[in-house]
Amino acid sequence: MNLTDAEIVTIEVNALLDVLFHRAGYDFRNYSRASLLRRLEFFTEQEGFKKISDLIPMVIHDEPLTRRLIKGLLINVTEMFRDPAFFKTLTEDVFPVLKTYPFFKIWHAGCSTGEEVYSLAILLQEHGLLGRARIYGTDLNAQIIKKAKDGIFKESDIHAYAENYVAAGGQRQLTDYFYSRYGSAKINDELTRNITFASHNLVSDGIFTEVQMIICRNVMIYFDTNLKQKVIGLFYQGLTPGGLLCLGSKESLNYSEDASCFETMSLDSRIYKKQISSAKQVSKANSNIDVSAEIKARPNVGQLHAF
Ligand SMILES: C[S@@+](CC[C@H](N)C(=O)[O-])C[C@H]1O[C@@H](n2cnc3c(N)ncnc32)[C@H](O)[C@@H]1O
Repeated sequence: MNLTDAEIVTIEVNALLDVLFHRAGYDFRNYSRASLLRRLEFFTEQEGFKKISDLIPMVIHDEPLTRRLIKGLLINVTEMFRDPAFFKTLTEDVFPVLKTYPFFKIWHAGCSTGEEVYSLAILLQEHGLLGRARIYGTDLNAQIIKKAKDGIFKESDIHAYAENYVAAGGQRQLTDYFYSRYGSAKINDELTRNITFASHNLVSDGIFTEVQMIICRNVMIYFDTNLKQKVIGLFYQGLTPGGLLCLGSKESLNYSEDASCFETMSLDSRIYKKQISSAKQVSKANSNIDVSAEIKARPNVGQLHAF
């Protein structure tokens, strides 16, 4: 059978992703192929292999390499007050809604090293809302979740984020929220009290339920359309009626069959409100398990959790 080089690479990638899933429990089969392929090619070369399929026996037998591979497939780039206009919209349009709740839950899905979570916590604090909040910051990569939990950043980065903070509507000095020591800056404890960080896989884990706001920015850009649809469905189930779904500026609900269950609150900032009257059926009986209790009990921070 004559196959093109590209077709052979597709066979290699499919086989590798199957093995990765069955051996290590990480399911990248529905990630967007173009960027996944770039990262696989880079990793193959970096590890000194010739072909992507050379990784298959390694994934079966070499646990440290598999950990490196999983890390290599995830992009963890983030910053504080990333896309300040988004945070400004939160303070102007969303905080008045949150103010109507005596208590509310927020889920940052795919929060990387926590900068996004702390950015929101700072603004909630400035608007007198942090005490009413319970915030979950989750990410597939447990090692970066440990970093998020530590809340320690380079002091120079905090200075670099000052401009974003002002553009986001920050009312003080960003450095007021950190203790500085030897070039590092640690987030103040009073900001972390209501935050729980945990490893969580959007592809395979249960969801948080009765959540008033979900923020998932710059995560689903790595998913294919089927996986995006599935995750949007999970978010729909996790939100309370009237709950808010915040996607990054590169995302929208346009492609989603669930789009009609949401109304647009801010087109620029991609903030959507779950319709109060929508009566969509839950598509998977077991997908609305509330993982928040399980998350609190998880001992695996610092590891990639399937191994
Ligand atoms: C580019 S970062 C975005 C961080 C932050 N939300 C922001 O916008 O700055 C994407 C994050 O999504 C996480 N991620 C990728 N696949 C995931 C999955 N299946 N479940 C949970 N998190 C995932 C990655 O580990 C990474 O930290």
